[in-house]
Amino acid sequence: LVAPDALFGASRRNSTGFDLSDEETLARIHAAREGAIPDALPLTVSEPTGQRQDVLNPATGEKIAEVLMADAASAARAIEDARIWDAPAAERAAVLRRAADLYEDHYGPIFAILAREAGKALPDAVAELREAVDFLRYYAAEGEAHDGAPRGILGAISPWNFPLAIFTGQIAAALMGGNAVIAKPAEATPVIAAQAIGLLHQAGVPKAALQLLPGAGRVVGTALSSDPRVAGLVFTGSTGTARTIARTMAAHLAPGTPLIAETGGLNAMVVDSTALPEQAVRDIVNSAFRSAGQRCSALRCLYVQEDIAPHLIQMIKGAMDELRLGDPWDLATDVGPVIDPGAQREIADYIAANTHRLLHRLAAPSRGFFIPPTLLKVSGIADLEREIFGPVLHVATFRGDQLDQVIAEINARGFGLTFGLHTRIDSRVQEVSDAIHAGNIYVNRNQIGAVVGSQPFGGEGLSGTGPKAGGPRYVPRFFAPAAPPAAP
Ligand code: NAD
Ligand code: ALA
Repeated sequence: LVAPDALFGASRRNSTGFDLSDEETLARIHAAREGAIPDALPLTVSEPTGQRQDVLNPATGEKIAEVLMADAASAARAIEDARIWDAPAAERAAVLRRAADLYEDHYGPIFAILAREAGKALPDAVAELREAVDFLRYYAAEGEAHDGAPRGILGAISPWNFPLAIFTGQIAAALMGGNAVIAKPAEATPVIAAQAIGLLHQAGVPKAALQLLPGAGRVVGTALSSDPRVAGLVFTGSTGTARTIARTMAAHLAPGTPLIAETGGLNAMVVDSTALPEQAVRDIVNSAFRSAGQRCSALRCLYVQEDIAPHLIQMIKGAMDELRLGDPWDLATDVGPVIDPGAQREIADYIAANTHRLLHRLAAPSRGFFIPPTLLKVSGIADLEREIFGPVLHVATFRGDQLDQVIAEINARGFGLTFGLHTRIDSRVQEVSDAIHAGNIYVNRNQIGAVVGSQPFGGEGLSGTGPKAGGPRYVPRFFAPAAPPAAP
C-alpha cells in the first residue's frame, strides 16, 4: 500500500469533518448553543473607534450580540500599525497548521456562532468549518513550496455567506505571501470573524500582521481600497461591489495594484433527455436550495430537454415538497433562513413581481428571515435580470437540436462561475465542457461545494478576476511580482 501522503503530498489531505450522529459531538455542539455569544470588537493594534450595531439571528430576528463598527479613522490607524510578518515560510506554515487544529478543537462554539449569526444549518456549518481548515492547511503547504517577497499591507474583504471559510482562506493565502493583512468581514457576520481571528492570534500570528476591522463596506471597505499604503486587495462578494472597489482603487492607488476578486454568478445546468432523472433531481434540488440558495455556486437557471421536462419538473416539485425549512439547529432542517430582513424583502419582492412565472413554492415559517424554495418558469437565462441570492430556481426547456444555442445563450450572459451537465452521452460531456465559459464544470453531480486542493474554485468574465481559490495558482498571486532581469 502507498501512503496517501506519498501520492498526493500532505497539502492534499482534507479535513475529515465531524460526525453529527455521534452523541459526544452533538453534546458539545448543544452545550455551545446555550453559551453566551461574545460581542465582536475590532481586533486591532490601536484602540478602535466607531458605532455599536446589533447582530441579529436570521432564524429568529433576535439580537445575539453587538459589534463595534469601525470608522475610517480606525482603518487609517490599522494601516499605520500594520507590519508584515517576516518569519520564515516554514514558521508561518506551522502557525497556520496550529490554527487549523484550534479551529477543529473549537467546533462547538464555531457551529453555534455559524448557526446563530449566519443561520447555517448544521450540515452546512460542518462543511464550512471543514473548508476553512482545508484552506489553512493547503495554503500553508503552498506557501512553503513557493518563494517570493511580500507585497506589503493587503486588505481582505469578505462576504457573509461563507463567513468563516472564505474569510479564513483570504487571510491564510495573504499571510503565506508574507504580507500584513487587515480583514474586513461582512456587516452581518462579525462574530464568527472575531472568533477566527482570536484563534489565529492564539496560534501565533502576530497582531500587527493580522488585524480585524468589522465595519460598513462604504466606510472600512472604501478606506482600504483608497489608502495608498495598501498594496493590494483580495475581495469576495458581488460583481457590483467589485466594480465599485476597482473604480476606487483606480482613482487612489498606484497603477497595477492588484485586486483579486471572486464575484457572483448566474449559474446554469443542462439536463438532456438521456439523464438519469432521480439523480438529476437530487442534484438540482441540492444545487439550488441547499444553504437557502446563498452560495455563489448555486444553480439559478435549469435547462431541461423538452421531451422529459413535464416528468422532471413534476419530480422537482415533489422533491421540493420534501424539503424541511426551519431551525438551523434541527438536524432534519434542509433550508435555513436568508441572511437579513433586507435580503428577505428583496427576494420576496422579486418573487412577487414574477408570480406569472410561478411553478411551485413552499410555505415559510412565520418567524425569522425565511424565503420558501421557489420554482419559476422562464424562456432562458436572458430572462434573469440579475443574481437573486436565495432559494429561487428558474427553469427553461429546450429542443434536442437547440443545445448549441442554449450554450451560446448562457455564455452570452457574461458570468462564468459554475455550470452543471446531466447526460449519459460521453461525447457530449467533452463538447459542452469545451464550449461553456465557466470556471467550475460539474458533470452528473451537484454543482456546489468545491473541495480545496482538488477542485480549485473561481470564475471568469463577470464572476471573477483571479486565480482559483484552493488551487496551486492562488498563493503565488500574494507575492510581489519578481523584478525584471537586469539589463545586460
Ligand atoms: P457584497 O458585495 O454586498 O459584500 C461583500 C463585502 O464587500 C462585504 O464585506 C461588504 O461590506 C463589502 N463592501 C460593500 N461595499 C463596499 C465598498 N464600496 N467598498 C469596499 N467594500 C465594500 O456581497 P455579499 O452580499 O456579502 O455576498 C454575496 C455575494 O458574494 C454574491 O454576489 C455571491 O455570488 C458573491 N460570492 C462570490 C463567491 C466566489 O467565490 N465567487 C463566493 C461567495 C460569495
Ligand atoms: N466554494 C463554494 C462552493 O463551491 C462557494 O459552493
